[in-house]
Amino acid sequence: MRVVILPTEKEVSNFAADIIANLVKTKQNSVLGLATGSSVLLTYEALIEKYRKRELSFQNITSFNLDEYIDLKPNHSQSYRYYMNQKLFNHIDINKHNTFIPECIDGNYELSCINFELEIKKHGGIDLQLLGIGSNGHIGFNEPTSSLNSRTRVKALTKNTISNNARFFKENELQPSMAITMGIGTIMESQKILLLGLGKHKSKVVADIVEGPLSSFIPGSILQQHNNVIVVIDEHAATDLKLYDYYIHTEKMHQKYTC
Ligand code: GLP
Repeated sequence: MRVVILPTEKEVSNFAADIIANLVKTKQNSVLGLATGSSVLLTYEALIEKYRKRELSFQNITSFNLDEYIDLKPNHSQSYRYYMNQKLFNHIDINKHNTFIPECIDGNYELSCINFELEIKKHGGIDLQLLGIGSNGHIGFNEPTSSLNSRTRVKALTKNTISNNARFFKENELQPSMAITMGIGTIMESQKILLLGLGKHKSKVVADIVEGPLSSFIPGSILQQHNNVIVVIDEHAATDLKLYDYYIHTEKMHQKYTC
């Protein structure tokens, strides 16, 4: 695991956007795995900025999102389809037909999940998966005790996740308690994984993922078994890392001896 600690949210996001942009420039038909939530917002803004400056084009890019709520229509303001359109897709030249979200089609959950997996395979797999992290260690909506080999499927959300995400819903608005999520096994097949963590409220879970034991109770800890993961976090999210100084040192060495 490469652990990159940067002073601010902005620097974390610029770092992530540069990695995505480099991939998009070198492989114009890249397959990106995308995430929702607040941690990735500034990264999307930085990508939009690069697009506006004509530094890159998403014309031939395909994307697969990690998850989607069950029971929200795509045009609902809290659906992840809506989020992706608003926060990224509407502002770049990506072909929306090439943007896949694990939505339930025609009420058939099982088939929708199977088709989502097949679509990823058909496109040759995910080159780069962007991840946020839930405060309970979830990646996508793979809640604690999810099978570490799981595939795309329907998942019930924990109380913790529902209450963390309640801030996005209006009072009296229906907040789904179920979602379709890419599985942990699916995520782990990505060529490269970029996990972002911002803020003090993520410091404990970041330490669990990077330094804790591998356990389905902290689903993100499975990333320790992937050989191409970059964890990019701000200073606040790094405060519980036992080997903080070591990560700062190894990153300096990385900058010196690579590229
Ligand atoms: C949601 C999403 C996750 C995301 C997580 C963290 O639960 N399903 O994919 O990583 O929130 O969100 P935030 O970045 O807002 O902390």
